[in-house]
Amino acid sequence: MPKINWDDSFSVGNDDIDRQHKKWIRIFNALHDAILNNDLTPYRTITIRALEDMLNYAKIHFSFEEKYMAGIGYPDVVAHRRLHKDFDTQIYQYYRDAQDGNAVLNTKIIKMVRNWLVQHIMIEDMKYKLFVQQRG
Ligand SMILES: [Fe+2]
Ligand SMILES: [Fe+2]
Repeated sequence: MPKINWDDSFSVGNDDIDRQHKKWIRIFNALHDAILNNDLTPYRTITIRALEDMLNYAKIHFSFEEKYMAGIGYPDVVAHRRLHKDFDTQIYQYYRDAQDGNAVLNTKIIKMVRNWLVQHIMIEDMKYKLFVQQRG
């Protein structure tokens, strides 16, 4: 399972949000290492911390992005916010499982988070870029 490398195809046309997505991808790559390099001794601690970082940063990013979308008059903020909320709920579940010690922390989680991040930015976030472009 490869890490994610940000390139210009990820750009949503707003510098602040691009910077946040880059940081978020770095956090994902750290989670990737934490889960896949399971020869590390403090494996569980590192994984919990990586999930915590993911949750915390997602919260900051989502709230910024939702304000941005509202500010530009993007019409589908409610649906977009629901996608953010679903992600938050899913990651929080993984986080709690990890804390309880009964988690299945493996490539499945990494695959889900990776696919979600890439598809969310490339498909859902791109919709507001298009909205701004079409509005002119
Ligand atoms: Fe985003
Ligand atoms: Fe988003």
